[in-house]
Formats: sequence, C-alpha cells, structure tokens
Amino acid sequence: MTTPVPALPAKIHPLVRAFLDTPDAAHDGLARFGSPAHLLFPQVFSDNLARLRSVLDRHAVRYRICYAHKVNRSRAFLRTAERAGIAVDVASAQELAAAASAGFAPDRIEVTGPKGERLLRELIEARVTINVDNLWELQRLAEFDGDHTEVPVLLRISGFPASAMSRFGIALAEADRALTLAATHRSRITLRGFAFHLDSGEPGERVRAVQECLGLVERAYGHGLTPTVLDIGGGFRQVFTADADRFDGYVAALRAALLGRGEPMTWGHNTFGYQVDDTGVHGTPVFHKYANTVPATRMLDDLLTAPLDAHGGRTVAQVAGENLLELWLEPGKSLVDHAGITVARVEFVKQAADGSMLVNLDLSRDTVTPADQEVMVDPLILPGPARRETNGAGPVGVYFAGRLCLERDMITNHKAWLPHRPQAGDLVVFPNTAAYHQDLSAAAASMHPLPPKLAVTRHGGEFRICPDTDYEPALVMP
Ligand SMILES: Cc1ncc(COP(=O)(O)O)c(C=O)c1O
Repeated sequence: MTTPVPALPAKIHPLVRAFLDTPDAAHDGLARFGSPAHLLFPQVFSDNLARLRSVLDRHAVRYRICYAHKVNRSRAFLRTAERAGIAVDVASAQELAAAASAGFAPDRIEVTGPKGERLLRELIEARVTINVDNLWELQRLAEFDGDHTEVPVLLRISGFPASAMSRFGIALAEADRALTLAATHRSRITLRGFAFHLDSGEPGERVRAVQECLGLVERAYGHGLTPTVLDIGGGFRQVFTADADRFDGYVAALRAALLGRGEPMTWGHNTFGYQVDDTGVHGTPVFHKYANTVPATRMLDDLLTAPLDAHGGRTVAQVAGENLLELWLEPGKSLVDHAGITVARVEFVKQAADGSMLVNLDLSRDTVTPADQEVMVDPLILPGPARRETNGAGPVGVYFAGRLCLERDMITNHKAWLPHRPQAGDLVVFPNTAAYHQDLSAAAASMHPLPPKLAVTRHGGEFRICPDTDYEPALVMP
C-alpha cells in the first residue's frame, strides 16, 4: 500500500462544488470575461447569513447584523446584504458611498475604524452611526460647528484584561473620560452603546470583553446616559479545511522537511514563521488560521451561552435581554466564507534548477493572498477543454508561481501535490478566497489589471454568471 501524499483538502460549499462539477462552466465563464477572475457566490453569502441568524434567533436576543464591507469590495455581496435587510459596517468614505448606492439608508450604516477630520465631518452630514475609535474623534464630534445635528455614536473599547494589545479603540482605563465627554455634550452626541472587535478565536477573550462592556453600560447610566447597544464586532472564524487530520499530517511533514527530513516542501527556504534550530521546529506558523475547525456559528453560540460571573452565572444572551440591550455584530469573513473562489489559467510548467516543478499562472500572489500570508488549502485543477485525459502518472508535487518579474511572486511557497502534472490552458481554482484574499493586498503591478469580479448564481440546475456590479438579488431570497 502506498502512503498518501501530504494534502490540504479544501472545504467547498456544495453550490460551489456543483458549479465546478458542471462541465465547462468555469472555462466558459473565463472565456467570456477573461482570466484570471474572482467568482463570487451571493447565494452562499445568504446561506451564511441564515445560519448566523438562526443562532441569534434561537437565543431570542434582539440583534443587528452589520456586514463588514471591508472583507470584499464586491457590490453583489453588498446588494445581497441590503436585500436581506441587514445593516452594513463601512470603514472609509468610499465604502460609505458604495453602501449608500447599494441602497442602505443612514440608519442601517455604521462606520468603524480610525477616521480623519474630513471623514468625521462627512459622517455627521450623512447621519450614520459612528463607531468612535478614540477620544480625539469623540472630542472633534463634540466640537464641530455647523447645525446641531445629533450624532449617534458607539464607543469602541479595547485593552480588556488578558487580551492582545490593539492599536484600535479607547483604552478601558480611559472609558470614564469618554463617558464624561459624551455626557457633557449630550445635546450633540447620542451614546448608543459600546463596541469592541477582537480578531481572536479564544472564547474567553470575547466573554471578558462583553463583561467589561456591561460594566460600562452601568457606568454610563451613572452619567445619565442610556446606552442600548452592545456591539461585539466580527472575528467569527472561517473553516478552510475539509480534513483536519490531513491538515495536521501535512504540517507534520512540512516540519520534518524543514529539518531536512523527507522530500523538500518549501520554496526559497521559507519557514512560515516557525523558528528552526538544532533542537527542532518551534513557534506558531503564520498560516495557523487555515487549521481552524470551529465554525462561526459555534463561536457565536458559545458566546451567547457563556455564563457571566459578575451576573450570577446568567448567560450573555440572558443578560443582554434583561438589560434591554441590542447585540450588534460586524461579521465579515464569516458571511463570505466559501462564497468566493479565484480562478487562473496555467501559462506553462517548468522545472527549476533544483528540480522543483513550477506551475506558472496568469495571476500574482497579491491577488489571491491576504497580507502575504501563506494560504494553506490545495488549489484544484480543471483540465482545459482540449484535454480530457490526464497525462502521466500522478501525483506530482509543485509550487505555483505568479506572473510578476519578482522572485517573491510565488503564489505558494509550500509544495502542493496535484493528481497529475498540469498543462498550459488548464484552470487552477483557489478555494474560499472571498474573505480578504482578493482585495486586501492586490496591486496593479506591471500594469496588469486586477482580476474582474463575477457573480455566479444557480437557478434550478443552471448556473448564470454576470459582472459583480450588475448582480441584482432575487426579490425573494432563496
Ligand atoms: C471594526 C471591525 N469590525 C468588523 C471586522 C470584520 O471582521 P471579520 O472579518 O473578522 O469578521 C473588522 C475587520 O478588520 C473590523 O476591524
């Protein structure tokens, strides 16, 4: 019996799988709109939204979901969110304009992130809820001249006990100053509530943050303020892997390869954040998020059912209800999880001087990789229409290389095993790229245009593709 090659099998949504299994669907789409392309699946977005809603409904909390637009520039996702009746979290003047043009009224828009003077003024005019990042912002909102519009604000808090340091938010220790400011300027500032955002999978951190914010709600009452919102931010995780054991097996083989054991598995002496020395491989790799197996719905459920020590062990959901608080969420990646893929074409396959096989694509690393992280899911190969038979005995270990004249434009720095050696004209599918992978780092280097975004929808047994900007959700959500 032969041992299976190391693999990082991707979890794929059934709708995306059905699309990829439809003969020629991806090839025809790229022939029409060009290669490479980002394909987005708004129906998967709706599916993710329904799952989050069902957790919240089960706990009978009052809630508002603000889709974090920053996760993807797609208009199709924005329109889907708008049609589904949820709110939106925007983080720039441009995202605000996009949200407004997608149909969001000001009372369904929340603005997060750090803001400059100009944006603050625009936000007052726009009458949206401002999630205040710092005391300077709050002070400026209080001071601006002009008409005496009331400005609805949330105070973003950070620096919770035993949490990682954050550059965002008002330090917990300064919250009283913020409350004094808000109370002094109450004719101008309407304190809607408190917010936090943690990019952490550690359940205890969120519970501690909720607990501290509930304490701030009490203190706000002491200032004569009446907050009604507890905004728990985003950070609900994605599940990339279809097989956690194989993922662990791959990582074990990679660690062995870093120590010079077995077949080499890394390009350019990359160590992925591990420290490698004579005693072994240490530390946490940059790609650890790809190992996650806890879905966003479970994270949310665990948070809502977490007992709060300061409230006699009553759960987060119960305490929020008893205090007439509306829970706000700002999910980004959990709403677009599995709702996008990136498809590129194989230009040629070559052998490097060390014998490594390089599969060169018409794509660059930055258009499929967030903030230069190593993406640890196996791409899929869709053989070109002219080539239905496979060539040579597989599997074959390869690195994917990008189209820029840069040594570092390697799409994978870890070896991926494919069933067969690919050929020019084959398509390569990068699974689950909708969350941050498509836009966060993408640059138009060498004047290559950014890949177009296309919306793919299923109608009965048929798939339709249109430019992302043209997509209009059905009146009744599927
Ligand atoms: C304030 C805020 N809210 C929400 C999000 C969305 O987070 P996620 O995509 O992890 O759900 C972010 C992401 O950076 C954020 O900064």
